[in-house]
Amino acid sequence: MGLTMEPKTKYAIMLIPVSMMLLSVLRCGQFLSKNGVTLNNALERIASLPLPFSDLIPRQPDELPYTCEQSYTIELLSIDPLVIYLNNFIRDEEIEHLLALGKDRFSTSMVFAGSDGFREVLNKTMRSSQTAFLPKDDVVCQCLTRRMQSLLGNVQNVEVEALQIVKYMTGGDHYRSHTDWFDAPKLDTPIPGSSDRSPKPSNRLGSIFAYLEDDCERGETYFPHLPSVKETADGNKFALADGDTGLLVKPRRGNAVFWNNLHSNGTGDERTSHAGLPVESGTKIGLNIWSRYFLDETMVGGD
Ligand SMILES: *[C@@H]1O[C@H](CO)[C@@H](O)[C@H](O)[C@H]1NC(C)=O
Ligand SMILES: *[C@@H]1O[C@H](CO)[C@@H](O)[C@H](O)[C@H]1NC(C)=O
Repeated sequence: MGLTMEPKTKYAIMLIPVSMMLLSVLRCGQFLSKNGVTLNNALERIASLPLPFSDLIPRQPDELPYTCEQSYTIELLSIDPLVIYLNNFIRDEEIEHLLALGKDRFSTSMVFAGSDGFREVLNKTMRSSQTAFLPKDDVVCQCLTRRMQSLLGNVQNVEVEALQIVKYMTGGDHYRSHTDWFDAPKLDTPIPGSSDRSPKPSNRLGSIFAYLEDDCERGETYFPHLPSVKETADGNKFALADGDTGLLVKPRRGNAVFWNNLHSNGTGDERTSHAGLPVESGTKIGLNIWSRYFLDETMVGGD
């Protein structure tokens, strides 16, 4: 018996390093498909495919190695307002793709001002960073849009804005306390491609801030009105703020925080105000994913 088992055992032992090697290759995002197509090649191929006009998100051919599906885990940070921490929300290869996509698109970040609240102005006291708007037809952007929509589930999720990368660099780049919702509803066209093109009042419901680069000192996202952390929390991802009030979310590459900006009657929730604390050294890069709620539609569930 011993002799007949031996080759199998050897084979199994030989497989261990092979599978470990495969795992580490996968982890590095250097995934090779059966045909030896690298992820980047595949993304280029997907990007060059014609997009169907009827769908916001194009379907991806099965044989390509890039798949939109992602398993991430969640931790509730607050129930009211709803705030959720998302572990492993964006994969390494997606981050690399987004950073390359954004690289030549940066310009100084603006803030909204003016009597109607929608004039964009420079105000370095309020906000000092660089913003890159990403193209809506990029496959990874569409996938992340879909990931946000799927997180929203039964909550209205017809429209997600073009994704934005924001870069905070050494020397105090920051964003003072602000809310993501608009003071007055913004008129916009609800469903891309729908026959009804008349603008309708909308506001930002779901916000995701994801961390794409965390090679920095400080630069936490600070929510002054959120509950503090439990005493048992390790402080690695979120922590109690200096001064013992509010919540600090630390930049951790690949992780993200989601929150609901609006009350159920559609008005903005002040408790979602937050700041990007100054980056003392290094670089923090984040990604904004914003979904719109159209005020004359049902917020949660069907009519
Ligand atoms: C810029 O932002 C600061 C901080 O919010 C504010 O006090 C100041 O009035 C703003 N400046 C302009 C020109 O709007
Ligand atoms: C909307 O709901 C919030 C929270 O319940 C409340 O504070 C606010 O007054 C309401 N606003 C309107 C216009 O109904």
